[in-house]
Amino acid sequence: METSKVYTGENAKLLLQGKEYNLPIMIGSEKEVGLDITKLRADSGAITVDSGYGNTGSCLSAITFIDGERGILQYRGYPIDELAAKSNFVEVAYLLIFGHLPTKAELDDFNFKLTHHSLIHEDMKKFFEGFPPTAHPMGILSSMVNSLSAFYPEFDYKTDLEINIARLIAKLKTIAAFSYKKSIGQPYIYPQNHLSYSGDLLNMMFAVPSEEYKINKVVEEALDLLLILHADHEQNCSTSTVRMVGSSEANLFASISAGICALWGPLHGGANQEVLEMLEHIRADGGDYKKYMNMAKDKSSGFKLMGFGHRVYKNFDPRAKILKASADKVLGQLGKSDPLLDIAKNLEEIALKDDFFIERKLYPNVDFYSGIIYRAMGIPTNMFTVMFALGRLPGWIAQWKEMRETPGTRIYRPRQIYTGATKRAHAPIDKR
Ligand code: ACO
Repeated sequence: METSKVYTGENAKLLLQGKEYNLPIMIGSEKEVGLDITKLRADSGAITVDSGYGNTGSCLSAITFIDGERGILQYRGYPIDELAAKSNFVEVAYLLIFGHLPTKAELDDFNFKLTHHSLIHEDMKKFFEGFPPTAHPMGILSSMVNSLSAFYPEFDYKTDLEINIARLIAKLKTIAAFSYKKSIGQPYIYPQNHLSYSGDLLNMMFAVPSEEYKINKVVEEALDLLLILHADHEQNCSTSTVRMVGSSEANLFASISAGICALWGPLHGGANQEVLEMLEHIRADGGDYKKYMNMAKDKSSGFKLMGFGHRVYKNFDPRAKILKASADKVLGQLGKSDPLLDIAKNLEEIALKDDFFIERKLYPNVDFYSGIIYRAMGIPTNMFTVMFALGRLPGWIAQWKEMRETPGTRIYRPRQIYTGATKRAHAPIDKR
C-alpha cells in the first residue's frame, strides 16, 4: 500500500484551548485507524503524551499485522499458523526480509549464502575467551554482533546489504552455539553446510568431537517452529530499539546488537527464562501453585505470573496456542514427563477461569510454553532468550531495512513534558 493511499482525505478535529486543529485520518490495509499528529506541535505548540507508547504508531510498516483483540498474527499477509505448518524458518526469514516467499532458485541461493557465511573470523574466538564463565549469553551475543561491525566495516548499502544480512543470520547461530560451548567448557563445534539451519544449531550446541551426535527430527522441527513463531512481532520493545538506533543511520550490526539488549529484559524476551525460574521456584516450594496464583493477584506481594499477559494480545496469543500443542508432541516423543509442565498447566487452567485474569485479559503468552520446550530439548535456561533472539533476527533485519528504505525517514526523537525545577539561580558550593 502506497504511503499516500493511507490518507483518507478526511480530518479528525481537535479542539485545544479554544482553537480547532485538523488531524489527517489514515487507514491501514487491515482497516486500522490512525491520526497524523506530525504537524500538531508546529501548529499548536502541543505534543501528545503516551507513556509506554501503547497508543502511538511510530511508522508505517508492511511487514507484520497483529490484531490483539482477535488473536491474529500475520507475516506479510500469511497467517502464522499456515507459515508454521507449511514453511521452514529460512523461508520465513526470506519472506519477512524480502517481502515474498522465495522461489526455488531464490531459496537455494539464500540457503547457499546462509551456509557459506556461517563461520566466524577465527580472531573472534579470542573474544569468547575474555568473558568470565558467569557471563550471561545475551551479553556475549550482543557484544559479538556489535563486533561484526569491526570485521565488516563500512558497507555500501546497495551492493553489500544482502550479503551482510546473510552473514548476520548465518553467524548468529554460530555465535550463539559457541557462547554455549564456552559456558560449559567444551570445544567449539564448527557449522556444517549439509544441515538445516535448526539442525546445524542443535549440532553445534550438542555434538562433541568424541561421539556421533544424531539430530532428533522432532526436536529439529520443534526448534524450527519456535524460530518461526518468534520471527517478528511488529513494533515491540526490541524492534523499536532496532529502528530507533538504526534511525541515526547506525550500521546493521550495531542496530541489531542494541535490539538484543532490549530483548534481554525480563518483561520482554527474558520472560521465557523467568517462566522456567518461576516454575522451578514453585516446585522447590512444594508445588503449591494455588499459593502463587493468589500472590499474583495480590499487588502488595510484588509477584507476577511470568508468561501471562501481553501488551497487544488481549484474548489469546496465537503463538502460544501452536506451542501448547508442540510442547505435548516434543515431550511425548522424547518420553519426558516434566513436573514443571504439570505446574504450568495447572496455573494456566486456574488463570483462564479466574476473574482477576479474565477482567484484565491476561492469557498465557508465547514465553509460557517456549521455555518448557527448550528445557525438554536440553537447552539450558540462560540460553532461552538467545534462542528467542535467533528467531527474532529476520524480523529485526526486515524492520531495519524497511526503515532505511522508506523515503523521508527521520531520526527517532520523541519529546517530553518537563516536570523538573524551573529556572533557578546557581549558588556555588561553599567549599571552605
Ligand atoms: N501477573 C499478574 N498480574 C498481571 C500480569 C501478570 N503476569 N500482567 C499484568 N498484570 C496486571 C497488572 O498488574 C495490571 O493490573 P491493574 O489493572 O489492576 O493495575 C493489569 O494486569 C494490566 O497490566 P499492565 O502491566 O498494565 O500491562 P502491560 O501491557 O503494560 O504489560 C506485560 C504487559 C509487560 C507483558 C505484563 O503483562 C507482564 O509483565 N507480564 C509478565 C512478563 C511476561 O510474560 N512478558 C512476556 C511478554 S511476551 C514477549 O515479550 C514475547
